Amino acid sequence: MAEELHIAQGGKEEKYSLLHKQITALLEGENDAIANMANVAAMIHHTFGFWWTGFYRVIDGELVLGPFQGPLACSRIAYGRGVCGTAWKEAATQVVHDVDKFPGHIACSSASKSEIVVPIMKNGKVTAVLDIDSEHLATFDETDRRWLEMIVELL
Ligand code: SME
Repeated sequence: MAEELHIAQGGKEEKYSLLHKQITALLEGENDAIANMANVAAMIHHTFGFWWTGFYRVIDGELVLGPFQGPLACSRIAYGRGVCGTAWKEAATQVVHDVDKFPGHIACSSASKSEIVVPIMKNGKVTAVLDIDSEHLATFDETDRRWLEMIVELL
């Protein structure tokens, strides 16, 4: 069991390490925020096969849907609402092992079981969030948090 866990963790570390290098290279050649969010969402999504991977941007006091991969999602989320609105309000990553136990979780899809939301900060303010949903419970852990926080710093 410990061995299996180690292998699984190692696989994740290696995937994120490669992803971080690829995203660094990609962003060096492009400075348009939407183009970069679109490619970053696609790269994360297809590396891990998540259920939904995308961005919400802070526009006029709301989170507005940005580039994503996966099924249809809510277009707008209010400050402090759901996992995304909480990540914005607290300016802190939210790792949710079971979305049904998160007060106020916004269910864009009943298939979503666990979630991670990472805020993107510019000059001390949240300007967007990266939201990833999984159709499995407890998909995200400290490894995801650490790497995804490093990845959004590249944006
Ligand atoms: N579940 C999110 C809403 C966004 S969708 O999952 C894509 C939330 O509670 O903030």
